[in-house]
Formats: sequence, C-alpha cells, structure tokens
Amino acid sequence: MSKYYLTTPIYYVNAAPHIGTAYSIFTADLIKRFKKQQGFDPVVLTTGSDEHGQNVERAAKAISKSPEEYATAIANEFVRQWQALGISVDHFIRTSDPKHFETVRDLFERCQKNGYIYKGSYTGQYCFHDELYVNDAKPGDPCPDCGRITETVTEENYFFKLSAFRDSLLKLFEEQPDFIQPEARKNEIVSFVKQGLNDLSITRTTINWGIPVPVEGKHVFYVWFDALISYMTAVEGEGMWPADLHLIGKDILRFHAICWPAFLMAGGLPLPKKIFAHGWVLVHENKMSKSRGNVVRPGPIADVMGGPDPLRYFLWREIPFGQDGNFSYDALIERYNSDLANGIGNLASRTLSMLHQYFE
Ligand code: ME8
Ligand code: MG
Repeated sequence: MSKYYLTTPIYYVNAAPHIGTAYSIFTADLIKRFKKQQGFDPVVLTTGSDEHGQNVERAAKAISKSPEEYATAIANEFVRQWQALGISVDHFIRTSDPKHFETVRDLFERCQKNGYIYKGSYTGQYCFHDELYVNDAKPGDPCPDCGRITETVTEENYFFKLSAFRDSLLKLFEEQPDFIQPEARKNEIVSFVKQGLNDLSITRTTINWGIPVPVEGKHVFYVWFDALISYMTAVEGEGMWPADLHLIGKDILRFHAICWPAFLMAGGLPLPKKIFAHGWVLVHENKMSKSRGNVVRPGPIADVMGGPDPLRYFLWREIPFGQDGNFSYDALIERYNSDLANGIGNLASRTLSMLHQYFE
C-alpha cells in the first residue's frame, strides 16, 4: 500500500505547549491512526520546533542563556508533552539541526540557479514580537497580530521572486481544487493571489541566530525560508516527500499555500498534495495569550481526567473541524459527564451486562 506523510506546524519555542498547539497535533495523530487503519504504509508524522530568530535570541539573553540552551529546553518540553499526551510522532525536527541547514541551503541554491533569487534593499515596518514585516504599515503603526508598535527597519538582503509565481499558483489551485481546504479559505487565497504578489525578502543581517546563507557577508535565512523547509528535512532520504498533508492553523495559511509551493516550484521540487487550515480554539470566546492570562495547558487536564482522551474527544466533538470553537472548563466537564460517562459509558456498561446475562 502507498505511503502517507503528514505534518503539523513546527512550533515556535517562545511558549510551552497549550491546547491550541495540542489541537493541531492531536488531529494529526488522529489522521495518522485513521490512515493506518485504511492500510497506508508507512504513515509518517512530523512535528518539531521553529527555533531561529530575534525573539529567541532576545529571550535567551534575558536569562543569560545561549539561544541553543534556551531552544533545547523548550523543544524538550514539547517532546515530553506530546509523549505524555499519547501522540505518536515519527520525526521531531528542530530547525537548529545541522542536517536542516543543508536542506535549506540546497533549496536556496536551486532557486538561485533557476534565477529566482536577487539582492535588494528593504525598508519596512517590522514587528519584532511576531517576526514579521507588516506590509502597508507606516512608522508608528501597530502590528495587526499582537498590537505592539512596529519598528522601521532597513537592510540589504536577498529576495525571492514570489511575484513570478502568480499564474503558476492560480493554475495549481485550479487544477487541484482540493489543494487548499476548507473551500472558503481557498477562495480567500485565490483572490489574494489574483491581486498580484510582492517579492519576499528571505535573509537578514540583523539576526545572528539563524542558518548562514551560502553567500558573502553575514546573512542568515529569515523565518519562513527556514521553517517550511523542515518538512522536507525531516524525511530526507526516506522517499516520503512530497507530503500528503500539511495540517496547520488558519494563521499561517498564506505562507503554506503561497510561499511554500512557490519555493518548491522555483527549486524544481515536488509540491505537497494538500494543505488544510483548521480554525482557532478560543478560550471563553477569546484568543489565548500570555498577557490575557488565559492560556490553557493540556497536561493538567489529562492528569485530572485520567488521560488525554476526554480532552481529545471534547475538542473534536465541540469544534466543527475547520471552524473556530470555544473551550471552557464548564463545557469540558459537561461533555465528560453527559457524552462520555452517561452516554457512551452507560451504553457500554449496559451492552456488556446484557452480553454477560444472555450470551454468557
Ligand atoms: O506559526 N487554536 O508557530 P506557532 C488552534 N513556527 N490552533 C492553534 C492555536 C489556537 N488557539 N494556537 C496555536 C508558527 N495553534 C510557525 C510555524 S510551520 C513551517 C512554522 C496552532 O508556535 C496552529 O496549528 O505560532 C497554528 O498554525 C500553530 O499552532 C502556530 O504555532
Ligand atoms: Mg503564532
């Protein structure tokens, strides 16, 4: 039977696992189990940690640690947590793994050879917290993601000719109508691409903690032309590429549905088969955040409820897949009592006693 390769996002090491990050990996693990039942062989699941960048550099410095030490501590926490939640991961890829450096450089050189890389200078508003340039922002404007004030940055760096891929991407979306799912999000991506794409700056000189670019000068690869490629690094030499499914949250769909296929087309490499963007797990109708103090951890819930299954059940039962949904402790306990204990629990117990009574 044929292979099936699926991935979760590789998570930033700026926060310990919470029920949002767990939601993606619980679901990937569920799909993995289902694909195995269907007979796919081997079924391989990759997750990992996205470790480079200024945030990690800063956070490590603040506690007098090297970025390596800092990233290692959190990556270990992710590995431990996923194990404790009963998730069976085949590859945990860290972007600081030297083997990943080679994959990234190799793709860069392929893109360069094919004429899709050039040197340019970029000035823009940048959010250091989210590590993103905010397009169309003016000095003093806030970051649309986190609300912090953006900073003006100018530097020389290398660009990827994303603008050259408008038509090939539209053709891809048309020829493979289920390349991006759900449908509504696909339509958003299609209209976005139709408007035309800007080239993408893919290196930085302002950051030390990153993968050195094989050019003169002190450039490192910048966030997405590092992180995305880890999906390939993880299965290097195993014959698993291309991925059958990238399961992600809707926040990072543009990078996956636009940049990633463009990078691969530029390098002449096979594209993933499908990208599915799920919705948000909200907590009492709000986005989880450290500053709101409403971050919910899966570990303590699993401890109290005798394992991870009640939480897994809750997330899939409560949230229509692909849409946003709400977490609350009250709703979790309600589902546990009504669906699991009274509903399924009673059904199982009555069925078993009748089996004993009437069929020995
Ligand atoms: O974006 N509800 O990492 P990240 C549902 N390193 N899913 C959630 C969630 C929530 N409240 N919060 C997080 C990055 N997620 C990059 C990815 S991939 C090559 C690089 C999940 O740590 C969801 O899958 O910010 C989302 O896309 C991901 O965590 C973002 O994780
Ligand atoms: Mg994020």
